[in-house]
Amino acid sequence: MTEHEARQKIDKLKKVITEYRYEYHVNDTSTMSESTADSLKHELSELEEQFPSLITPDSPTQRVAGVALDKFEKMQHSQRMLSLNDVFSIEEIKKWLSRIAKLDARVNETKLFVDLKLDGLACALRYENGHLAVALTRGDGLTGEVVTQNARTIDSIPLHISDDDPLEIRGEIVIHKDDFERLNKEREKAGEELFKNPRNLAAGTMRQLDAKLVAARPLTFYAYELAGSDLDNSAQYKKLRDLGFKTGSMATTLDMSEMGSFLHNWEEKRSQLPYQTDGAVIKLDSRSLMNNLGVVGKAPRGAVAYKYPAEETTTVLKDIVISIGRTGAATPVAVFDPVQVAGTTVQHASLHNADEIERKDIRIGDTVIIFKAGDIIPQVKSVFKDLRPDGTRRFNYEAELERQYPELEFVRPEGEAVYRVKGVTGPILLKRGLQHFASKGALDIDGMGEKNVEALVDAELVKDFADIYTLTIEQLMSLERFAELSATNLVNAIADKKKVSLARFIYGLGIRHVGTQTAIDLANTFKKLDNLGVATYEELKAVDGVGEIVAESILGWFVDDDNQALLAKFRKLGVWPEDVKHTGGKLSGKSFVITGTLESMSRDEAADKIRALGGTFQTSVAKGTTYLVMGAKAGNSKAEKARKLGTEVIDEAQLLQLL
Ligand code: IVH
Repeated sequence: MTEHEARQKIDKLKKVITEYRYEYHVNDTSTMSESTADSLKHELSELEEQFPSLITPDSPTQRVAGVALDKFEKMQHSQRMLSLNDVFSIEEIKKWLSRIAKLDARVNETKLFVDLKLDGLACALRYENGHLAVALTRGDGLTGEVVTQNARTIDSIPLHISDDDPLEIRGEIVIHKDDFERLNKEREKAGEELFKNPRNLAAGTMRQLDAKLVAARPLTFYAYELAGSDLDNSAQYKKLRDLGFKTGSMATTLDMSEMGSFLHNWEEKRSQLPYQTDGAVIKLDSRSLMNNLGVVGKAPRGAVAYKYPAEETTTVLKDIVISIGRTGAATPVAVFDPVQVAGTTVQHASLHNADEIERKDIRIGDTVIIFKAGDIIPQVKSVFKDLRPDGTRRFNYEAELERQYPELEFVRPEGEAVYRVKGVTGPILLKRGLQHFASKGALDIDGMGEKNVEALVDAELVKDFADIYTLTIEQLMSLERFAELSATNLVNAIADKKKVSLARFIYGLGIRHVGTQTAIDLANTFKKLDNLGVATYEELKAVDGVGEIVAESILGWFVDDDNQALLAKFRKLGVWPEDVKHTGGKLSGKSFVITGTLESMSRDEAADKIRALGGTFQTSVAKGTTYLVMGAKAGNSKAEKARKLGTEVIDEAQLLQLL
């Protein structure tokens, strides 16, 4: 991304996030889900990290959200009420720790203090001479609204404490889930508008001018900090409890090694908790260390907020590829950079059909919301039109079909939303595919020529490529074409090819536009079939000879559900290509052309050996060809061309030496 593009995106993100935060913190309503907002904030801070010169003081990453409302008296906080930076995985927690360990090596020795993150309204309570004197909302972090009267109605906020020193206790005001439901039921009966979620209710309630109304709503205060105290965080919690405050009962000190199970455990059990939690707050237990590390932007360096995996998130749409399934149906698929949704990494989502793209007006370059339908299949929920970059165009499905599959013709049957390959039905595609799968350059299975493949498919003994590995001699003998010997031979020939080279296997899959050489390059680059399956558009395009169309076609193949099912079936049957172990073989960077016939091996065998050593095999001499191998009865034209282009001419013996 250029700086100019980044600036445009940052401006748009700032606007959308600021609007969201205003609605959320000031009006107690929501314009989008919290995880979506988190994801946009994450994108903004990553862009700002990449282009620090574009950070402005008004960025949501630099400011605490919210403003103090006019209807309340305002007061300055004793010290700024900070916010926390978000992390979304154990890896990010580790990165945070190693980042701050570089600033202060004591980080490596300290314990961590973690508490669940409550989803409510932050509040500061000031006690003077043991009496609750002032309660302040967070406001913009510097100035808050005075809500002392309201706070006094909350049972879990002691009006008196047994400490006469001036103390400030900070914490979160929440409403328990069962109270929330009860209140909403009452509102429903009364025909009043329902509260969206417990947080909105807690926040909305604290901002009521009528303290009687607040008293009627059961709010709970959980303390998490003794402002300005030098006590370690675990000791602060103890003191808070001794003073009569509720603290999160799961709060504990632990090591990084215990963090994963703590977070995982509470993520699973969170529905059993009385309050809503959206993650955990992780602090260094040592307060002096936290103070020493200081603050950057609006957040302390010594603490982070871990957010549970989002049920929905945002990402930027990189491309729409069209995948052609087993039946010839052309399905559009959204491709984007990998994102975490509901705990798994996803990088593509089905768009179903052309109408869906049209209806949602989904364009390449758009920021989209991804969610998992039924928690399994990733889908595009909607598009953020406000974040759309300049100059995008509506997606023209028919033009795209033509661009991505120039050799095919498509039809859209009356009343159907799906385009299909014209004149091709499932069995025809399967026969063609299977013949290719078994062909010399691919798995090279003897006895799988056109006629046999036809017979197997027509008899429905084979419904996909993997089925050939389950064929039995008896099954084959039930067909007219086979006798015992030929059936045995075929079953053995198939069993022989359970393990083949990755390049042959990739080629055999029949991914459009992936020929032998591309398959080799893909195999050498990605080393394992699984790696190829999760390769991104950019990673694919970085491979020699892979351009946009080929990359799209590969993505299109792997996003197809039928193809995924096929791979799973292969794996189950123990049919799997070998990983590529060595790279940069001794012939890497060298290219070969063979003319005439070789005595010691066939041309295909020679090609295999050359490729296995990292070399490339070409069919004709071109600029840059390293060697021309002259076999027996070779004509002269290739040799002539080689001489012209400076290609070295060698004989079979020299080739054998190189091999
Ligand atoms: S400790 C520097 N502990 O989350 C602030 N905060 O995203 C340190 N929050 O502003 C705060 N539960 O309002 C802490 N157990 C908890 C919390 C918690 C919720 C809120 C708090 C804070 C925000 C940060």
